[in-house]
Amino acid sequence: MHRTPRLVRLFGAVVLIVVIVLFTALIVDSFFNDGKQLTTLTPKGPSAQTIQNLFVPVTAIAGVVFVLVMAAALYIARRFRERKGDDPGEFPNQLHGNTPLEIGWTILPALILAGIGVGTVIGIIDLNKTEENSIKVEVAGQQWWWQYRYDIDNDGSFDGPRDIVTATEMVIPVGRPIELTTTSNDVIHSFWIPGLNGKRDAVPGMKSPWKLQADDVGWFRGQCTEFCGLSHANMRMLVRAVSESDYRAWVTNQQTDKAAEPTDPVAREGRKVWQALCAQCHVINGINDVKMKENPPPLVAGVAPNLTHLMTRGTFAGSIFNLYDPVNPDGTPGDPSDVAEAGDPGAALLGGKVDTSRVNRVTLEAWLRNAPALKPMYPQGGRGMPALGLTEEQIDQLVAFLETLN
Ligand code: CUA
Repeated sequence: MHRTPRLVRLFGAVVLIVVIVLFTALIVDSFFNDGKQLTTLTPKGPSAQTIQNLFVPVTAIAGVVFVLVMAAALYIARRFRERKGDDPGEFPNQLHGNTPLEIGWTILPALILAGIGVGTVIGIIDLNKTEENSIKVEVAGQQWWWQYRYDIDNDGSFDGPRDIVTATEMVIPVGRPIELTTTSNDVIHSFWIPGLNGKRDAVPGMKSPWKLQADDVGWFRGQCTEFCGLSHANMRMLVRAVSESDYRAWVTNQQTDKAAEPTDPVAREGRKVWQALCAQCHVINGINDVKMKENPPPLVAGVAPNLTHLMTRGTFAGSIFNLYDPVNPDGTPGDPSDVAEAGDPGAALLGGKVDTSRVNRVTLEAWLRNAPALKPMYPQGGRGMPALGLTEEQIDQLVAFLETLN
């Protein structure tokens, strides 16, 4: 009988052990991985906790089953392997009809699956329960960013005079349930903030309920999880959880408009450029919003983010770039390419002064110069932002104007 050389067998065993150790380390590490932005394993809100409470025991049971089945298979393969002197033509002894064994291996998996099934149904009911005292927000997917409309006056509609609209980042008060309605303006997207809840598809023409709640102040990253075209991977979102009083200040500021002309002459020129070139797609409340009776804007049906309070956001372009340069915890400038710091808007978040020294001008100007070069888009088809062929002077003027939008 042919036997594999000892060295080859030893090598095989070492490889197997290394693979098992690495795989186990990967699984264990993922449970202790607080720093990863899109980890599902460190829940930061009740809905994410509900999912975790289901995920951990199911994974544990599946893990035990996996180990037992693998161990039994390996044991049997070794115990009954062909030995020296065995007759290679011999057919193994066939047996069947062990009633207790057959009943056992039917009932045990059935019980395990039933247990998981009951837990899953309880979890789904819990995730879909509506909460009192909730804030209602409509989340609409767009190619390739997210729009949020808040029903501030709580009248069931998202476009009352006190209601607000924003994009890319959702600001929520800590400890309050947020009742979401997900929908889409074009293709199917999927809304997912892994730290706060699982995924919910955003389907055109449909309103799907979902909810979020953050236990602590902080920010939480999300990512569109349904393939939706060229920049699907660049369709991110951010939830900022702030204190109740900060939330109220944020709402009050978001309710204001930007009708007033900027005082700075460069920004004033920028406003003209904006009206001539940007206002066909973007809205700034007070300049060209749809509520204005006179001079209604030639809008391309809301396919671009509302920019009224652009500078209150820390990121732009579907949350893939920082609008502000990050600052390290010790106050020194952070790595400008690091979107992990979620570009803290500082005082501007609540409508305070924009710290223009921290504005990420390099990327913002590059975006205005040639947006499709920074993010794959299809502007000819009305998808995404086109390259407008602006002069450097116009870009400077536009940035000066945008910096007034706190
Ligand atoms: Cu939107 Cu993928």
